[in-house]
Amino acid sequence: MRRGWTTLIAACMLACVRQGSAQQAAPVPSRSTLDGVFTAGQAAAGRKLYGLRCRSCHTPEGHSATIKAKWSGRPLSELFQYISENMPKDNPGGLEPDEDVQTLAYLLQTTGMPSGTGGLSGDEAELSAIRFDTLGMREAKP
Ligand code: HEC
Repeated sequence: MRRGWTTLIAACMLACVRQGSAQQAAPVPSRSTLDGVFTAGQAAAGRKLYGLRCRSCHTPEGHSATIKAKWSGRPLSELFQYISENMPKDNPGGLEPDEDVQTLAYLLQTTGMPSGTGGLSGDEAELSAIRFDTLGMREAKP
């Protein structure tokens, strides 16, 4: 009988500990930029925008290197937020939200990320569920 109680209490404690740690865990991005998170059409539109609005200060070649160094492992929402609030530097926040999304798609493509069918959105929750990855990345021709 005594042993039964001990087992019961131990099982209960284990359940509590498990539940506690599950509640504390920060949301972990469940998708990766390697999963094809943007469409080829979005990247093509972004490429045009980049030529018009970004290229005067950045080159895709230089950009892809700094972006990889700076944003790898972080949620994609952070890069999106940075671009939409700070760029273009001569007119911060000057792009429409869907233009920011297209530019981001193009930047992902220049860092070697594959396109897919689902398409990227500017939704904060959706973007924070995508991790900027470098695993197995290859250089893309800009
Ligand atoms: C007038 C020049 C200028 C234009 C135009 C411009 N940028 Fe920038 N950008 C900068 C400078 C300078 C920095 C370095 C950080 C700073 O000084 O704020 C920067 C930094 C960045 C960064 C962070 C550093 C990196 O390489 O990871 C990103 C991302 C970025 N720019 C994206 C864009 C995008 C996208 C556009 C076009 C929509 C754009 N920029 C247009 C000047 C510019």
